[in-house]
Amino acid sequence: MEHVLWSIGHDLIIENIVKAQGCYLYDSGGRRYVDFESGVWCTPLGHSHPRVNRVVKAQVDHISHTGYCYAHPATEEAAKEILEITGLPGGKCVFLSSGSEAVEFGVQVLRKISGKPRLLTLVDSFLGSYGSAGKKRGEEWHLLDWSLCSTCSRPDKCTPQCRVFGDIPCEEIGGFVFEPGNSSGQVRFPPVAFIKNLVHLISKNNGFVQANEITTGMGRTGEWFGFQHYSIQPDIVSMGKGLGNGYPVSSIAMSPGIIDRLNESSFYYSQSHINDPLGCSAARAVIQVLKEDNLVERSKRLGEILIKRLTEICGNHDFIKEVRGRGLMIAIEFLPEHDTVPAAQIYRAMLNRGFIIARRPGRNTLRVDPPLNVDENDIEEFLYNFNQVLHGI
Ligand SMILES: Cc1ncc(COP(=O)(O)O)c(C=O)c1O
Repeated sequence: MEHVLWSIGHDLIIENIVKAQGCYLYDSGGRRYVDFESGVWCTPLGHSHPRVNRVVKAQVDHISHTGYCYAHPATEEAAKEILEITGLPGGKCVFLSSGSEAVEFGVQVLRKISGKPRLLTLVDSFLGSYGSAGKKRGEEWHLLDWSLCSTCSRPDKCTPQCRVFGDIPCEEIGGFVFEPGNSSGQVRFPPVAFIKNLVHLISKNNGFVQANEITTGMGRTGEWFGFQHYSIQPDIVSMGKGLGNGYPVSSIAMSPGIIDRLNESSFYYSQSHINDPLGCSAARAVIQVLKEDNLVERSKRLGEILIKRLTEICGNHDFIKEVRGRGLMIAIEFLPEHDTVPAAQIYRAMLNRGFIIARRPGRNTLRVDPPLNVDENDIEEFLYNFNQVLHGI
């Protein structure tokens, strides 16, 4: 890869992947790797899913791209599916290509329709790689520090009087961009009562809520979307990554109320690949497979088993702080705090045994995010090897 500038901030570990099928990646020497990172959360159905591939190939032969003023029915069909699973009937969707674009679109909508100067997000949320959403600083954002919640003895009794809510300039806040569970790759889940209080506070002050479901969407956490663990209904839901199962498509679903306000405003947004039928056909096929194969429920069930088994295995080692997760979005955090060596060693040892798990340079956490249709034998193999590796540390 001499002529490619690789993902900055990540090491290039295997340079010669030539094939991917289901949970497996193969290198040019025929070596097989079990992908328990699901291609950075992008392949909830595993790589090269036959039905999604069939639909995408057929669509390519038909029409891939239409342009601003012309539409293909695949786009409308995908929008109907998304509005149903997000609980936003009567609303509308836009389709773009990446998660960053989907969050940015929602942020621009919130700023436009609220007419207020700032948006609120939790201090450790990740909103994207570029655009105004990526720059969480300055006058445009209020960053809410919820670290007190992690030591709170009664998180279920959270009240709006708590000092965590203390300095929110409510009248200035046009919306809350809520990432329900990723927190910059650390897989942290804000407490339910805290989020409910926050959503209530924002809505009472005429602000709106956008759920950033780029990583937590498409069944990953054992519900269709991460916000569904909180019994709230966002006005905007942004999704990407797993939506195309490897094909780059993202979407923003908006409530009828948001659409009415947009129609009354002078909001303008266009991109070359907006609402392209190719990405929409992939998205629709992914949703249909998730539904027909009951994979959201499976993610919940297998996640409970995997978290329990990992907790048992990790309980024997004092260099492990915690196993946490929802559905098949799981993290293992190591001790001592800020020491990244155990995570790096375990990552490497698992790779040598043919298992890919997720590691971010500079973090003391590993993530385990297999596809939602992962074979249970692969889970057993993974647990066996992980246990062996921990004993070797
Ligand atoms: C929570 C969250 N939001 C947004 C994004 C941006 O998505 P993309 O990389 O597809 O632009 C990511 C990417 O990892 C993410 O984790």
